[in-house]
This record gives sequence, structure tokens and C-alpha cells, in this order.
Amino acid sequence: MENTNSYISGIGSYLPSQILTNKDLEKMVDTTDEWIVTRTGIKKRHISTKEEATSDLATKASLLAIEDAKISSEEIEMIIVATSTPDMMLPSTATRVQKNIGAKNASAFDISAACSGFIYGLSVAHQFIINGTMKNVLVVGAETLSKYVDWSDRNTSVLFGDGAGAAVVSRNNIGSKIIGFHLGANGNPPREWLMLAGSGSVNKAENILEEKKNFITMNGKEIFKFSVNILPSIITTVIKKYGLTIEDIDLVIPHQANRRIIEAAAERLNMPIQKLYINIDRRANTSAASIPIAMVDARRENMLNKEDIIVLAGFGAGLTWGSMLIQY
Ligand code: UT7
Repeated sequence: MENTNSYISGIGSYLPSQILTNKDLEKMVDTTDEWIVTRTGIKKRHISTKEEATSDLATKASLLAIEDAKISSEEIEMIIVATSTPDMMLPSTATRVQKNIGAKNASAFDISAACSGFIYGLSVAHQFIINGTMKNVLVVGAETLSKYVDWSDRNTSVLFGDGAGAAVVSRNNIGSKIIGFHLGANGNPPREWLMLAGSGSVNKAENILEEKKNFITMNGKEIFKFSVNILPSIITTVIKKYGLTIEDIDLVIPHQANRRIIEAAAERLNMPIQKLYINIDRRANTSAASIPIAMVDARRENMLNKEDIIVLAGFGAGLTWGSMLIQY
């Protein structure tokens, strides 16, 4: 089989209709709209209903991405769902999406790489396309983080939101060309820095509720320090790896964890802040879903122009990180 290029041929996103504002949060926990806006940039977030599972959000985003790619679900050969909030531990969320969208010719599996998951997923899809074994791979980032937030913990409850974004990666020479990527991980720092211990093999299922292991816990300061260093570093690495310079970059679409992290990266890179896309004010941190949701929002706001060189950059728990260079 001959080597070929890969392209993001379609994108789509879905945000649950329920919205929780900072003012709403003021009534739930000891915080203020002013604190949340100045420390994070977040004004509101979308929250799934009790009945909405991660696969439901993922399905809606996927159908839009498939329509955007102008293909049918049956043409999808692989489905990769990046999520930290899967429907269940077993089976995968991806197989549920496969059923829901009628992608009967697709294999399906989940990726656990926290907020870097979508970039990891795109990088896997890219391999199957460039080595010629597949024509269309669906990559989804989907989260229902609100179901794992301790609403009495102001350290975490103000930060997260729910949503899903999807992309079809294809061989068809239509859409944004994937130029290359850079991935990394460092498992040395304590898992407690950012953790959803849940019912994994480490914790006894019967103790989960009592020990509050069903909630996201975070050492905000450590994760903040990691994030402000890793974001500019992975942007620079992927740019240099493919022979480009900062001046060649038209737009960076970073994971939306905190507005201050993105502003610090802009400063460190000596880039005007307008070149780093920000939608955290209305989407909050949706982990694996944040980059594809931002891609759709940026397109809607006419911020993506033909031939633009764009960097996607994700970072998060694990620790994990990943950046990708695309030409729109
Ligand atoms: O998606 C992956 C990665 N996630 C991240 O990257 C998150 C990284 N971390 C952060 O974004 C920030 O560390 C936070 C937004 C979580 C916290 O911001 P901070 O500027 O680091 O605040 P802090 O933890 O240093 O707290 C400053 C003050 C403290 O009060 P004192 O000790 O100065 O009196 C906190 O108790 O703010 C207080 N505080 C709050 N006040 C009102 C902490 N959370 C809140 C809150 N509302 N929600």
C-alpha cells in the first residue's frame, strides 16, 4: 500500500443545552463570579442532564462531523473516543457511538489520555490513513465531567463543563492537511495532582463513595505550573520539528484549561494573544472535548482561513501532552 497524506475532512461539536453560570455557582459554593472570571476566564459552562451519557454527546458531535465530511457512517472504518468520563469501564464508549451512528464497518475503542486525548486520537487516526490501510477514521473527544464534580468543592467545581467534539480523518485530499504531531507523557508526578480515582483496580468499589473517590480532585497550583510550562513548549516543539517558525503560525487552538495559562503561553512565545483561540468563557474546561469544540467555534467565528497553518495543543492529567500541526 502506498503512503499518502491525511486530512481532517469534517468536524462537529455538541454542547448540552443546560447552562450553569458563575452566578448560579455563587448559590452552590463559596465563590464569586468575579473570582472565577479573573482567575480562570470562565463565565458559564454547559452541563449534561442526568439522562445524557458521554456517548450521547459523542454521537451528536460525530453525526455532524460525518455530515461535514460528506461521507456516510458506513464509510467510517475506525472510531476512537478520547474520554476520561466514559459511559462505563466496560464496554467502551466508542462501541456505543458505533451503534448509535450505524457505523457497522468500523472498529471502535476508547483512549484515556485526559485533556490530551483528542490529539492522541488524531495521531492514531493519522497513522492508519498515511500507511494506506484506511480511508476514514472518526476521532471524538467527549466528556460529562459534571457528573464527577464535587459541587461543594470550589477548587474544582468552577472549572469544568460538558461537551463533545469530533473530527473525521480521511485520505480524500479535502479539508485540513495533518502535517505532523508531537506527543509526550510523564507519569512521575503524583497522580493526586489531577485524579478521578473512581472504581479502578486501586480502589475498592465499596469504599468509593465514602472516600469521595467518585470526584475529580486536583492540586491546582502544581497543575497550573506544569501547564504554563508545557503549553509553549509543545507549540514550539511541533513547529520546529516540521521546519517552521512562530511567524508561520496563523492560529493556535489550545486546550481550554484556564485563560491565564493561554495568556502566559502567548507571552512566552511572543505571539499576539489574538493568535491563540479562546472560548473558555462560555465552554469552561471540557478536557478531551475542548480542542474539537474550539475548532468548530473558531470556524463559526470565521477565524480559520484556507491554507492557514494551525497548531492544536493539549495537556493534562497523567501527565500527558500533545500538539499537532495542520494546514487548514
Ligand atoms: O485541564 C487540565 C488542567 N487543569 C488546569 O490546568 C487547572 C490549573 N490550575 C488552575 O487553573 C488554577 O490553579 C485554579 C484556577 C484552579 C486556582 O487559581 P489560583 O490562582 O491558583 O488560586 P489559588 O488556588 O492560589 O487560590 C487563591 C485564593 C485562595 O484563598 P487565600 O488562601 O488566598 O485566602 C483560595 O482559597 O483563592 C481561593 N479560592 C477561591 N475563592 C473563590 C480558590 N478557589 C476559589 C473559588 N472561589 N472557586
